[in-house]
Amino acid sequence: MTRPLRARIDLQALASNLSLARDRAPGSRVLAVIKADAYGHGMVEAARVLAAADALAVASLEEALRLREAAITGDIVLLEGLFEARELEAAVEQRLQLVVHSEAQLQWLEAWRGSAPLSLWLKVDTGMNRLGFAPGELHQAWERLAALPQLRKGCLRLMSHLACADEAEHPANDVQRECFEAATAGLDAERSLANSAALLTRPDMHYDWVRPGILLYGCSPLSDGGVPGVGLRPVMTLESRLIAVQQRRRGDAIGYGHSWVCPEDMPVGVVAVGYGDGYPRHAPGGTPVLVNGERVPLVGRVSMDMLCVDLRSQPQAAAGDAVVLWGEGLPVETVAAHAGTIGYELLCGVTARVPRSYAG
Ligand SMILES: Cc1ncc(COP(=O)(O)O)c(C=O)c1O
Repeated sequence: MTRPLRARIDLQALASNLSLARDRAPGSRVLAVIKADAYGHGMVEAARVLAAADALAVASLEEALRLREAAITGDIVLLEGLFEARELEAAVEQRLQLVVHSEAQLQWLEAWRGSAPLSLWLKVDTGMNRLGFAPGELHQAWERLAALPQLRKGCLRLMSHLACADEAEHPANDVQRECFEAATAGLDAERSLANSAALLTRPDMHYDWVRPGILLYGCSPLSDGGVPGVGLRPVMTLESRLIAVQQRRRGDAIGYGHSWVCPEDMPVGVVAVGYGDGYPRHAPGGTPVLVNGERVPLVGRVSMDMLCVDLRSQPQAAAGDAVVLWGEGLPVETVAAHAGTIGYELLCGVTARVPRSYAG
């Protein structure tokens, strides 16, 4: 028997989440964010489904080239633009749209003597304080880009990114929106501000393009794990099996460091998944795991290839029984909350050795 761990990817759920994004932002186009291997789901497979979006967004030229090699022909945006001037030739040859967030990137474009048409997204920093032109610099940057002879007509767009959208009530959201309005006033261009969280909670930030990422993969973008009035479907289910069930005695200590001690005679199950697969090592005892569809608590330390679960609520469980680490029946946000992280990190962190199987 091969190791039973799989990341099962439900492509119908991905398509359904995209439809949901469209329904929630009916006046906007959708730039589907599929960087970081589509948040761990497999970028090419995800792109084939998300080709139904208006454009795809990735983080680097390398990611975009993988898509082109897989015959993904639609519009692709490089969210951080170019890292070096010499990437420009390949980027234009592949018809990639570039975010421009810095003076250096602007100068690379001005110095370029090629003739292929350029599609650009000018990024303004409205308070994330990470990438982008300061609001006061925006108009000048705009004029310089607008003067590029290669600029495709109507293809100089404006964008910014939100720092606190996962907290719908956070005051920074209004501050950033007002800053975006003020900074972009008078510029005749399509605009984009909303990530998944703002797509769901802030229709006033939808503008011309929304940029959902995590929502497409069925994970709540909100810090409290809530998704108001929508039916997101988890796309990834990380599933494995019990590979052993042992009857332990009261006082037996389980796993590395003997960090958990059986309080009574009890069955303990061993699951084929560990931090070598991307399951968080710091997930504490009590983190839920589904065995035969029922929640049981993790016990002891997560090791590289295995973890242990308390099977007192399932004395009949046996080696070979089905286990779900997250996905259908157990939201990744719940596991992330126990492990002190976010669903994004768990999804992106599923390692290459875990086979992805695609359905739908
Ligand atoms: C610029 C930009 N837009 C949109 C997104 C999508 O964010 P989310 O996954 O929270 O929807 C990201 C993700 O980090 C991003 O960097």
